[in-house]
Amino acid sequence: MSGDSRQEQERIRPALGVNDITGQTAASWYVAMRSDALKDKPVALKLFGQPLVAWRNASGQPVVMERYCSHLGASLAKGKVVEGCIQCPFHNWRYDSTGACSHVPGHSTAVPRLEPIPPTARQAVYPTTERYGFVWVWYGTQVPLFPVPEMPEAERPRDFMRLSFAYETQTSVLRIIENFYDAQHAAPVHQLPITAFELKLYDESSPPADQEALAREGAWFGAGIDFHVERYFGPMGIVSRALGLNMSRMNLHFDGYPGGCIMTVSLDGDMKYRLFQCVTPVDKDETVMHMLLAIKKGSGLARSAANFVLFGLQTWGAAGYDVAIWNNMKSDAGGAFSKYDQLILKYRTFYRRWVNKVSQEQPGPVRDSRADSRRSAHG
Ligand code: FES
Ligand SMILES: [Fe+2]
Repeated sequence: MSGDSRQEQERIRPALGVNDITGQTAASWYVAMRSDALKDKPVALKLFGQPLVAWRNASGQPVVMERYCSHLGASLAKGKVVEGCIQCPFHNWRYDSTGACSHVPGHSTAVPRLEPIPPTARQAVYPTTERYGFVWVWYGTQVPLFPVPEMPEAERPRDFMRLSFAYETQTSVLRIIENFYDAQHAAPVHQLPITAFELKLYDESSPPADQEALAREGAWFGAGIDFHVERYFGPMGIVSRALGLNMSRMNLHFDGYPGGCIMTVSLDGDMKYRLFQCVTPVDKDETVMHMLLAIKKGSGLARSAANFVLFGLQTWGAAGYDVAIWNNMKSDAGGAFSKYDQLILKYRTFYRRWVNKVSQEQPGPVRDSRADSRRSAHG
């Protein structure tokens, strides 16, 4: 299909059912929760519309599994971790981090005179990993198809300051992650005084070095927006001008993936910060947006503090304006596109490819005893 006819099709059938959480969530890594929220007790959580429980095994690795016990359905979130396994509070059955039932009181598969452990005693688990202060789960296929995206600046505290925050939203995953590609909302929503902008789309075959692992799997979406602006924007405009930050060009570079995007922001050619946008798909039209910023330190404490306020706190505030729009929109409405929506439409095409990769048989948590080896392969 040519680009034009694809675009035409987009126009006729705009984002059908993008709010259908089970059918329209792309295969990808998603944030299950913050790492510091998962200690030694099981935690109840809901992802992809499914009730789950998170806990840590003996080596401290996070486990995300079905919440209700395969025996009589008690909540494992009310149980406890015993000898590296999660123990159900009802009859004390235990499950290991692969979801296998490792212990039933009075039963043993090894001792012939005892009743064996029922083979159906098993909890489905998601592949997980931990990075950037988040517990991540892989959704869509048994084995992760690409690693968690790289943003090395978030792990370079000597040169970069970190800030992370989250917003709960009432919209779909796609509506959140396509927003970066929407140049037209920068002026009305974020008061960016734009005089002009150019949209850029990068060739899949030439990713930046830190995105090569994603690009190899077709999971990198490279794009950019060059804004020509009159001055720094928003309530911090006065502060920024006082600091001598009179930019005229704001370049946004996007390293998108099916579950989010890393945005690199440069002012007049000088890289200022990177912003990792990732999401927690809780349920239909219930998504948590996370933002993790790595802000370049300035020369001296005062300049670093100014950068933190200008880029960090202002991004936090700016994201709130997007959330207010999302919370009041219909996530599958719209469809009259302008030429300036081309990055959004391209991203939607990319995104749909990854929705289509979601395994038809098992879109939910995997029932696979090799979950641990997969986990370490991508950890
Ligand atoms: S319901 Fe979990 S052990 Fe019986
Ligand atoms: Fe925005």
